[in-house]
Amino acid sequence: MTRTICLIPGDGIGHEVIPAAAEVLRATGLALAFTQAEAGWDAFQRHGTALPPATIDAVRQADATLFGAVSSPLSPVEGYRSPIVALRRELNLYANLRPVLSQPVPSSRPGIDMLIVRENSEGLYAGRERATESEAITERLITRAASLRIAQVAFRLARTRRRRVTIVHKANVLRATCGLFRQAAFAVAADYSDVQAEEMLVDAAAMRLITDPERFDVIVTTNLFGDILSDEAAALVGGLGLAPSGNIGDDHAIFEPVHGSAPDIAGTGRANPVAAILAAAMLLEHLGANDAVARVQAAVAHVLAQGPRTPDLGGAATTTDVTRAIITHMEEN
Ligand code: NAI
Ligand code: MG
Repeated sequence: MTRTICLIPGDGIGHEVIPAAAEVLRATGLALAFTQAEAGWDAFQRHGTALPPATIDAVRQADATLFGAVSSPLSPVEGYRSPIVALRRELNLYANLRPVLSQPVPSSRPGIDMLIVRENSEGLYAGRERATESEAITERLITRAASLRIAQVAFRLARTRRRRVTIVHKANVLRATCGLFRQAAFAVAADYSDVQAEEMLVDAAAMRLITDPERFDVIVTTNLFGDILSDEAAALVGGLGLAPSGNIGDDHAIFEPVHGSAPDIAGTGRANPVAAILAAAMLLEHLGANDAVARVQAAVAHVLAQGPRTPDLGGAATTTDVTRAIITHMEEN
């Protein structure tokens, strides 16, 4: 059965790393068909919308989507909305999965293998903001349903790993919102007696990520805390050029590198394709193509260890050099 993959390069280095990841997907030899869709700042300039309706349709029709990155203006532009935030909401992609794994590069610490499960639909990113000249308010929406749903994802995935879930919150201060999240997460924990559940305040968790990251298996937390902790954790294992993520819902899934459009290096051929390639591996895992996942991961590990490496990892190789080396390893093994 042929699976359809929608590619959305977006802006900037998205146009370099998504074609690289698509080449790796083709090199798996799986029966895959590709569609291509537009989103981001370039799309906004051309069509007056950063997320054309045809793009939402293409994502809906695909078995999975690989998204690059988009450029968002720093000051508000009339009519512009971040398309990835809009897609997460439109398609109800409520779980943001961010694996954090030690890599064979000098800038990575050893012994780390954790999965951050971030609630992706509400919290401080629910978009409930208002401001006057003298006062600004953002509401933090936490629902029992979304908290139960994300905790279920975390505990289910913990069963495939080291069976430990750390529930991260700040319920000692944010009694109402984090209190509800904490209560819901422990209610789910009660159904998973084979998984060890513990809790940690978010400030302590930020410190423990630095002092003993090896201890963490699955972390489950609310939207903003998860965003911050996952960037912190990515820095422990080689940085943004290596960090993949997945946005998962019940019906659709979009995989993307954690990094943005990197306008400072776009067009120079120096972007590290590994984050996008590892996002493609997460996509394959989502499709159940486990042999292909293992081949891609082994090739990435080999190339990270032996080189060639892009400048963010201290090397001098191009996006194309690294992609070719990964595909060559896949073909030879
Ligand atoms: P960024 O992630 O684009 O870049 C941060 C730094 O990391 C830059 O120095 C960049 O050159 C480097 N970098 C990022 N990815 C790299 C790669 N694959 N290989 C080598 N070096 C890499 O974040 P920044 O600069 O804060 O944002 C740039 C634009 O990206 C902004 O318009 C922002 O809104 C957007 N952005 C989009 C995201 C998305 O589409 N999901 C996520 C984050 C930012
Ligand atoms: Mg972020």
